[in-house]
Amino acid sequence: MHFELSEEHKIIRAAAREFAQELKVGIIERDEEAKFPYQFVKKMGELGFMGIMVPEQYGGAGLDTLAYVLALEEIAKIDASAAVILSAHNSLVIWGLNEYGSEEQKQKYLVPLAKGEKLGAFALSEPEAGSDASSQHTTAEDKGDYYLLNGTKNWITNGGNADIYLVIAQTNPELGHKGINVLIVEKGATGFTIGPKENKLGIRSSDTHSLMFTDIQVPKENRIGEDGFGFKFAMKTLDGGRIGIAAQALGIAAGAYDLALAYSKERKTFGKPISNHQAIQFKLADMEVEIEAARLLTYKAAWTKDQGLPYGKEAAMAKLHASEVAMKQTIEAVQIHGGYGYVKEYHVERLMRDAKITQIYEGTSEIQRLVIAREVLK
Ligand code: CAA
Repeated sequence: MHFELSEEHKIIRAAAREFAQELKVGIIERDEEAKFPYQFVKKMGELGFMGIMVPEQYGGAGLDTLAYVLALEEIAKIDASAAVILSAHNSLVIWGLNEYGSEEQKQKYLVPLAKGEKLGAFALSEPEAGSDASSQHTTAEDKGDYYLLNGTKNWITNGGNADIYLVIAQTNPELGHKGINVLIVEKGATGFTIGPKENKLGIRSSDTHSLMFTDIQVPKENRIGEDGFGFKFAMKTLDGGRIGIAAQALGIAAGAYDLALAYSKERKTFGKPISNHQAIQFKLADMEVEIEAARLLTYKAAWTKDQGLPYGKEAAMAKLHASEVAMKQTIEAVQIHGGYGYVKEYHVERLMRDAKITQIYEGTSEIQRLVIAREVLK
């Protein structure tokens, strides 16, 4: 067993940490005004983060899942919104295109996505298909040369700013989940409407929209995989996506911890820094333990995927634990800051708001427990 990162992984982590410092500029304003971080997404493309796991022949950086997780953790420490933009793009769009796309699909869609020239979004959730993902009401009627796409999607990350969407839709309802397909849909397709931006509690500078499809003609060559592969594609995609969200949650928790630790050494009460009070020391100790446990689970899930081993349970365990630690420990970080923690300038209240979504998207904590229990009981 070896817990030391390779030199290459340390370099990637250092590069991501350096870039993340730039994200501090304007972060309170982006959060308050729900402004998308365009210039930083562009920079993430230039640094290779937008196609970090894609082979170099398709315009990516050719790195592994652990490298991806390290980059996400560093970025999420500062800006959880930038982290989810990166995570949805890489885990939910790029990964599936690289794994299951045809050569033509890779050349046309994967290459610009991996280079960061285009942004991706994954459209699975619907008003009545959140946790129950196979209950798809969006239809992709087989019309011979094309699919006729109709329906509504909800809560789509990168929904307004993406160029390329992977849309999950039902083609043969009588086959249940085996009748579902995944289609590549481009922004600007006739019949494609982007709904208003959601006004969210956290991750406010990432954009979340509903999407409406009205009689969109999607060419047959835009289906990924065999007819009926869409649900399995979505499930496999989410297995990897959960590692990304675990890394985001880990970063949020670790970012809040860094701030709380530094503050505890500066802030004085009763004549000494609050870090000298046992009440604060106990909190810091719990943060150190719980965040390190979340880190180990997250890195292990990434490592398991990189070994080519089954990783669905590991991903769900990492996501479940890291998201619960993020929520609990960002609340503690606010508590350590006292009244200052409740105002925006100290950043921990934002991280606390950002943490909540990690217990909800890419499967609620309850769904992660279901996935873990099914594996355990197999
Ligand atoms: N990998 C491969 N195949 C899988 C799989 C996996 N991880 N999980 C299930 N399948 C297959 C099963 O083997 C089964 O196939 P067969 O019929 O051929 O045997 C088929 O899929 C159906 O499986 P289930 O009966 O287990 O499916 P289910 O309807 O009971 O659902 C579930 C299982 C785990 C609850 C699933 O619906 C789920 O993960 N729900 C949560 C959805 C979710 O995470 N949504 C997030 C939206 S995206 C998002 O949030 C992005 C963002 O904003 C950033």
